[in-house]
Amino acid sequence: MNYFPIFLKVKQQRCLVVGGGEVAARKIALLLRAGASVTVVAPSLNARIEAWHEAGDIEASTDVFNIDLLEGCRLAVAATDDEPFNESLADLCHQLNIPVNVVDSPELSSFIVPSIIDRSPVIAAISSGGSSPTLARLLRAKLEAMIPVNIGKLAELAGRMREQVQQRLPAMAARRRFWNHTLEGPIAEQFYAGQEQEAETALQEALDRYSAGDVDEFSIKGEVYLVGCGPGAPDLITFRALRLMQQADVVLYDRLIPGEVLDLVRREAEPIYVGKKRAYHSVRQEEISQLLVDYAKQGKRVLRLKGGDPFIFGRGGEEIAMLAKHGIPFQVVPGVTAAAGCASYAGIPLTHRDYSQSVVFVTGQLKDGTVNLNWKALAQTQQTIVVYMGMMGVGVLSQQLIAHGLSPKTPAALIQKGTTPEQKVFRSDLQTLPDVAKNNEIHAPTLIIIGEVVKLRDEMSAFGLD
Ligand SMILES: C[S@@+](CC[C@H](N)C(=O)[O-])C[C@H]1O[C@@H](n2cnc3c(N)ncnc32)[C@H](O)[C@@H]1O
Repeated sequence: MNYFPIFLKVKQQRCLVVGGGEVAARKIALLLRAGASVTVVAPSLNARIEAWHEAGDIEASTDVFNIDLLEGCRLAVAATDDEPFNESLADLCHQLNIPVNVVDSPELSSFIVPSIIDRSPVIAAISSGGSSPTLARLLRAKLEAMIPVNIGKLAELAGRMREQVQQRLPAMAARRRFWNHTLEGPIAEQFYAGQEQEAETALQEALDRYSAGDVDEFSIKGEVYLVGCGPGAPDLITFRALRLMQQADVVLYDRLIPGEVLDLVRREAEPIYVGKKRAYHSVRQEEISQLLVDYAKQGKRVLRLKGGDPFIFGRGGEEIAMLAKHGIPFQVVPGVTAAAGCASYAGIPLTHRDYSQSVVFVTGQLKDGTVNLNWKALAQTQQTIVVYMGMMGVGVLSQQLIAHGLSPKTPAALIQKGTTPEQKVFRSDLQTLPDVAKNNEIHAPTLIIIGEVVKLRDEMSAFGLD
C-alpha cells in the first residue's frame, strides 16, 4: 500500500486552491461539499468559480500567489498548468507540513484525491494510487450500481439508535448480530424502497425481540424480491434490480431471461427454472407462488426474476397476493417492459403528437381457441396497440381490428427478440400481418405494434435502426 487511506475533516478550515479553470472548479466543489472555507487564487476565474465567489461561498483573489496565503491552511491544491509553479508550491507546502495535491502529479503530491461515491454520511473512496484514475472511475461506476441511493439515510438512522442499542444489548457480539441482521435484509430493503417510517418501526421491534432474547425467529425470516429485468438487453436492468440480484440465495427464473442476465445474479445463488411455454407449463403458477413462500420461510432471500416488468402480463400480482397472505416481506422492482424496450430499439415512438395520443397494451393469448378483447375500444384511430403474446392469435387480431373499423393498411410491425442482438423487425400492415407471421421464420419472444406510429420507423431507418 503506497498511501494511508484517511478521511480528513476540513469543515470550516481554510483550504487553498491555486488555479481558476475547470480542474480547480471540480476540487473546489468537493471541498465545499465537505464544508471547507475555500480560498482561490488565480489570474482569472471560470464562470462556475466566479458564481461561487459572487454567492459568497468562497474567497477569491486574482492577485499573484504569495506565501502568506498558506498561513493557517489545512490543505492546498495546485490546479494550474504552470508546472514550475506547481512544483514550487508543492515544495513550499512540504516544508510547511501542509498536505498538498498537485493535480495529475502524484509524485509532487503528499495526498491524492480518490474517486468517491457520496451517500453521506456514507462515503466510499476508490483509488488506484495515482496509477490509473480512469480505472478507479470505472470501478466507481460499478460500485455506484451496487450501493443503495439512500444508504446514507439508513446510516443516519442507525446512528440515532446507536446509544439505545448499546444500552439494551450490552454484549458486543449481540450488537453485531443485531446490526448484521437489520442493516442487510428485509428491514434495510424496506428502507431503501422508501418505506422509511415502517422500516424504523420494524427496526425498533427487532431491537425489542433481540433484547428479549427472541433471536432465532427473527434471524431466519426470509424475503422475496420480484424483479423485472427488462426485455433482454442486460444493460436495461435497473441499479436496484442488480443490487438485489447480487444478494439472492435462490433465484426462480423464467424462460425469457437470457443467460447474460442470469450471469449477473450472485454466483452462489441456487438457480431454479420455472419457465413457462404457451400451453405447456413446466411449473404451474400456484406452484411458483408456493415455492416463493417455502424458500422465504426457510430464511432465504428469494429472487423472482421476471422478463420485462413484473406487473405487465407478468403475473406478479398473483405472486405478491400469496406472499402477503403468508406474511412474507417482499418488494417489487419495476423493469423495462417489452413494449417500451422493443419500441425504442425498433425506432417506433409509441405515442406521437400527430399520429397517436394513446397506447394500449393487450395480450393476444388464446383462451379456448379465441382471443377475447374489447375490439371496439381497440379499433380506434390515433391510438397505438401493442400486443404481447400475439403470435398464435395474429389472424383473429388482424381480422377483428379490420372488422371493427381499422384500415387494412394500418401500419404494423412484428418485433422478434427485441433489444437483443437477434432483434428483427418485420414490417407490414394490418391485413398482411398474418401472412408475414406465417411466411417467415420468427423466433419467440415476439411483440406486435399496430398503428400509424409504425411508419415513423421508416424515417428513423436513416439513422441505422433495425
Ligand atoms: C408473459 S409476457 C411477459 C411480459 C413482460 N412481463 C414484460 O413486461 O415485458 C411475454 C411476452 O412479452 C413479449 N416480450 C417479452 N420480451 C420480449 C422481447 N425481447 N421481444 C419481443 N417481445 C417480448 C412477448 O410478446 C412475449 O410473448
